[in-house]
Amino acid sequence: MSFTGTAQISSRKITTQTLRNMKKLQERIACLTAYDALWAKLFDEAGIEVILVGDSLGNVFQGLTTTIPVTLRQTIYHSKAVANGASRAMIVADMPFMTYQITPQEALKNAGDIMKETNVNAVKLEGGGRIADAISLITTNGIPVMGHLGLTPQSINQFGSYRARGTNKEEAEQIFQDALKLQEAGAFAIVLEKIPADLAKRITEALEIPTIGIGAGPHCDGQILVYTDMLGLTTDFSPRFVRRYSTLADEVKKLTGDYINDIKSSDFPNENESY
Ligand code: KIV
Repeated sequence: MSFTGTAQISSRKITTQTLRNMKKLQERIACLTAYDALWAKLFDEAGIEVILVGDSLGNVFQGLTTTIPVTLRQTIYHSKAVANGASRAMIVADMPFMTYQITPQEALKNAGDIMKETNVNAVKLEGGGRIADAISLITTNGIPVMGHLGLTPQSINQFGSYRARGTNKEEAEQIFQDALKLQEAGAFAIVLEKIPADLAKRITEALEIPTIGIGAGPHCDGQILVYTDMLGLTTDFSPRFVRRYSTLADEVKKLTGDYINDIKSSDFPNENESY
């Protein structure tokens, strides 16, 4: 057992069972995204429990405005890198748009390719009852599945905006029923994105599996943020659910400015930095 910051860390690998036990013990689950080995190693050493190789890599890494163009090959590339960097955290790879919707068999094949090629521990799929058969087939073949309900960014063209979901009675009931269906299909956890806190509470209390919130209030069993938002590396995206723990973008620009100045003034490299 060791301590980093405020986190108490056991060196045991985090598994689906660990997360289920944490829910039972009402111990909150801390999750972040990562897309490469460098950041995965830092988050792993700090004690994060789950690292999601989110398809937000399309926004963060590729500068895209949606996650829709992200491909299976890109997910595999980034997932491999993350798995190389982290040893304790559970690593979950996001299945990209249209890699699991067509048939459950195709979903299983693609989930299998991710697992075989990357060494991650689970996959995540967006959607409710409509993809329950795919989740069921994937999980019965030994691949843990995390669900994702509420604001599901791969459906942005259908939603038309990134507004909160489940804010009216009908939509809230649909999300609640979908959560039950995902649990029934074998999901080990569900991400709840941008839904009212009281709906997330109702779902969390009704499920045996953990809920992981992002913009879903304080009652979820765990929380996740995109790491670049959490660290203030992104500056042009500031929904109220993001808590920024730093303004690293400013810091990086300042330090890069210092480096540039040292080169321009011939201060770098000095004698000690030369052969
Ligand atoms: O792609 C992603 O990063 C996600 C999280 C925000 C939950 O799906």
